[in-house]
Amino acid sequence: MSRDPQSRLQELRDLLHHHNHRYYVLDDPLISDAEYDRLMRELIEMERQFPDLITPDSPSQRVGGAPLDAFSPASHAVPMLSLDNALSEEEFLAFDERTRRALGTPEEMEYICEPKLDGLAVELVYENGALVQGSTRGDGYVGEDVTQNLKTIKSIPLKLLRLHPELLQVRGEVILGHEEFEQLNRQREKQGEPLFANPRNAAAGSLRQLDPAVTAARPLNMFCYGIGASRGFSFQSQAELLRQCAEMGLRVNPHVRTVRGAQAVLAYHQEMSARRESLPYDIDGIVVKVNEVALQEQLGAKTKSPRWAIAFKFPARQEITQILDITVQVGRTGTLTPVAIMAPVSVGGVLVSRATLHNQDEIDRKEIRIGDWVVIQRAGDVIPEVVAVVTGRRTGAEQPFRLPQACPVCGSHTVRPEDEAARRCINLACPAQIKERIFHFASKRAMDIDGLGEKLVDQLVEKGLVKDVADLYFLDLDRLAGLERMAEKSARNLLDAITASRQRSLERILFALGIRFVGEHVARVLIDAFHSLEALGKASREALMQVHEIGPQVAGSVCDFFATEENRQIIERLRRGGVEMQPARHSSSDRLKGLTFVFTGALTSFTREEAERLVIALGGRAASSVSVKTSYVVAGEAAGSKLDKARQWGVTILSEETFKKMAGL
Ligand code: IVH
Repeated sequence: MSRDPQSRLQELRDLLHHHNHRYYVLDDPLISDAEYDRLMRELIEMERQFPDLITPDSPSQRVGGAPLDAFSPASHAVPMLSLDNALSEEEFLAFDERTRRALGTPEEMEYICEPKLDGLAVELVYENGALVQGSTRGDGYVGEDVTQNLKTIKSIPLKLLRLHPELLQVRGEVILGHEEFEQLNRQREKQGEPLFANPRNAAAGSLRQLDPAVTAARPLNMFCYGIGASRGFSFQSQAELLRQCAEMGLRVNPHVRTVRGAQAVLAYHQEMSARRESLPYDIDGIVVKVNEVALQEQLGAKTKSPRWAIAFKFPARQEITQILDITVQVGRTGTLTPVAIMAPVSVGGVLVSRATLHNQDEIDRKEIRIGDWVVIQRAGDVIPEVVAVVTGRRTGAEQPFRLPQACPVCGSHTVRPEDEAARRCINLACPAQIKERIFHFASKRAMDIDGLGEKLVDQLVEKGLVKDVADLYFLDLDRLAGLERMAEKSARNLLDAITASRQRSLERILFALGIRFVGEHVARVLIDAFHSLEALGKASREALMQVHEIGPQVAGSVCDFFATEENRQIIERLRRGGVEMQPARHSSSDRLKGLTFVFTGALTSFTREEAERLVIALGGRAASSVSVKTSYVVAGEAAGSKLDKARQWGVTILSEETFKKMAGL
């Protein structure tokens, strides 16, 4: 190329900044990862040839720095204040009242509501659009210079896209997402390193690494929410500030909302509290700010916090309580699960008195004893769990716990397979297992027998009316009449629900049988391959393993199941009880009906032919070239010209992952 290197370098830097922003800030990439890598490689190669032309804001400089011995202090020109908290609606309403009184206005205030991100606050200093320094909050006046580490965060622009004010100190929160946090901890567990208690600690730990290469390997993220000192930059409201930040290429949280009046704030608080579980990162409340800068200035600040903003927190999800006892539950497959019985405590608004301890290894690893004070947490509908022991509160009276050798329900011998963490009761007739098997069989995603809940199953098993799932289909009004709280009407409803369940698809029946390792997806795969339970029951381990996605574990479990005479009899009695087991003639669903797919590039989970067959099996069409009729192009590794064609036609491009989700895999 005969172009002068300086201008090509500038062009490469601009291109990479632009695509970095599309990918990491907007989550809306325009080019493939491979194309991005090509540009980056060209940049690095040219910079190697012309080292004098390397600029500090070059995208190649994200991970450039050598490890430090210590961080140097970095002072904040404008102190980084903290926020007062409101822990209830009343406390928030008092803040609203106070604010309006101070401004002498009876009118409803305009507030801007933002998620309160649970990470750590940092400040980025941009001079004429270039990132020159980044620091932690520290005590609000002096923090630590973590510039090298902040530069490794891809959603932090090394150079602002537009508007290059002489000085701009941007503030925001560095966070680590849930998935990234889990992955980091899994990796640490494998390497025998101590685990992080929560994403915030992990983010803080990652940012305070002396070696930026370590930080670079942690997928941190940042959202901006304010500024410190500035020159050549102005704004009238917080909303305008955030808008300008976004225009400059800084990441701003998408859930920010400007509202009028305290009631609208309460509604936002409730809404975010409900959405909290589905966000990919932690928030611990909302931050409510008076929107207009002129009013903010009028209100001013106290020593530590502004009067124009407040953190309106959600109820905490972690609490401390005492373990009173540890009991053992027996699951559907006989797994013995230790369960902590705790002094009841309200966590995130729900009274909690039990938490799963998973298995003996988990108890040993966390050194949990009966009588211990522990930190417990719950997230959404997930069963509460014990995070850690508060060892400082031990008195010496705490009792270690060991899982029993015998099943606590039926007294049978238990085993712990070598490659498993759990101990299991192997008595198929164990009442605890029977109950769990029936409960699973009747559950929504299995046979969906409405009204057959845990209490009823308990009674049916305890009264000896049901010993296995097939017995359900031989129940009648007379037999049900003897049960507690079972009026004729509810008995009829139950029988109707049982009748309706006689028509479930084969894959549901197979899933409902509760064979180990046969979840909904595997059940579908097996029925697609063998079409009937009879054929499946006759299949050898080898034949099973011929099926795509079926490995030795599933194959072994399926063979064991059908090799057991009791299980074969249950299937036979289900049939006699009227459960239809017609071989599946049609494809298992038509979830891709009316859609045309084109595959390009190398896929990782299947060959192209397999993917096309899957589409057809799900009622869709597979084509080999892109046209107006194409609904989706699924792009694998090194996808080629079809991708360009897809862009020309404006066809939506899917990743293999997304396609698998659409196909229900
Ligand atoms: S504004 C003067 N906005 O909460 C205003 N802070 O308790 C100070 N935080 O140190 C901060 N999300 O680490 C603001 N949307 C948000 C925030 C937020 C999280 C953190 C921040 C701050 C702490 C104050």
